[in-house]
Amino acid sequence: MTHSPMQKLAHALRQNGLIRFIEHFAEQFPDNHLKDLAVDMLGPDRRMAVAGHEVINFGSDSFLGLDQDPRVIEAVKHGVEKWGTHNGASRAFASVQANVEAEQKLAAWLGTEAALIYPSVTLANMGAIPGLVGRQDLLVVDEYAHNSIQEGAKIAKANGVRLATFSHCDPEHLTRVLKESAPYRCAVVCIDGVYSMSGALPPLAELDAVARAHDAVLYVDDAHATAVLGRQGRGTVLDALGNYDNTLVIGSLSKGFSCMGGFIGCTMEFQRLLKIRSNTFIFGGPVAPAYLEAVCVVCDILSSGEYELLQARLRSNCRTLVEGLKNLGLAVLGGETPIVSVLVGDEADTLSAGSFLFERGYYVQSVTFPAVPYHAGVLRIQVNANHLRESIRGLIDAIAALKTRIALPGPEQLQKQAA
Ligand SMILES: Cc1ncc(COP(=O)(O)O)c(C=O)c1O
Repeated sequence: MTHSPMQKLAHALRQNGLIRFIEHFAEQFPDNHLKDLAVDMLGPDRRMAVAGHEVINFGSDSFLGLDQDPRVIEAVKHGVEKWGTHNGASRAFASVQANVEAEQKLAAWLGTEAALIYPSVTLANMGAIPGLVGRQDLLVVDEYAHNSIQEGAKIAKANGVRLATFSHCDPEHLTRVLKESAPYRCAVVCIDGVYSMSGALPPLAELDAVARAHDAVLYVDDAHATAVLGRQGRGTVLDALGNYDNTLVIGSLSKGFSCMGGFIGCTMEFQRLLKIRSNTFIFGGPVAPAYLEAVCVVCDILSSGEYELLQARLRSNCRTLVEGLKNLGLAVLGGETPIVSVLVGDEADTLSAGSFLFERGYYVQSVTFPAVPYHAGVLRIQVNANHLRESIRGLIDAIAALKTRIALPGPEQLQKQAA
């Protein structure tokens, strides 16, 4: 039997290890899989409906709950009336004034000279990383850095840049890699400000000291810290390092900001250079103007006294959850950021645990291999400032019930994993 080129392509894709793994799980656990959900309704207090089933959503990165804030919603509406739905031009040709204002407001809030907005953090990383380095340069990436950093690094490598990795959050290994890779013209060290799968925070001051000692610049993807950590929500870098002298900082406008896009905080000089060198900036479209209007409103909220109130609510919700989970004797990861993971382990158990909670009215993400190591599946819980206290307590009770059904590991398992 002959096959069309399209059939042959699909067949070849089915040989891919990841596709086989995912399809195997989807087939084996059709009711537990809970991936690729179609959401029918997002309501106040993080209520969400999926296929007629109402749950409390613990899977949103909109940590401060600003997606439901009337001022932010109004800014988007006003932006659509003012600019239409999309201006449809590459920024290499023209940007709307809202883009210029949003970048100025972001820089003023962040404490950098300038900022450059991209349509997403993924596109910032895939444009800026290969744009920053050339054939005589070195790129060093934390082994667990976000996928978009790894993809940006692959493009740089394909362009002839030397690429090295260093062990996760390990300044000593970074030192060795930089020493062994010398000589180079310039070096850029890429890390996450928060590792969202584990909630780990890198030792920024040590990594910065190593980078400086070896003539390297630090590139920090702070997507999960933007609007959530640091004074006025400026992320991890300024609080840890005191300045941005040796750091390019990348932030998200889609998570804590509840708008859309990503940005790089930098000097005016780097803003100009990155505009010329980032292919994703030049050859792709921009964030829709209405969302840039909303970014300006969120910058005002973050810069005001109200930020402390939002942050206090978020911290208090996190504390309640983490304490409740620890009292249940579970292995809890994270908690310094609003991403809290409960270790389950086995892949099938992790999927069953997610659907058990879903049936009881709580959506959390079941994260399994390859997003986490094999047999180290977790329930990933994203805490938001607009979760009601009773929803957090309800989730803890549901996890207590889960524990009677599935053997969940205790905290000693975390020490074993770390060893
Ligand atoms: C560190 C990091 N970078 C980038 C991204 C992707 O951001 P975006 O959705 O803006 O492309 C994420 C998403 O979770 C992330 O955790």
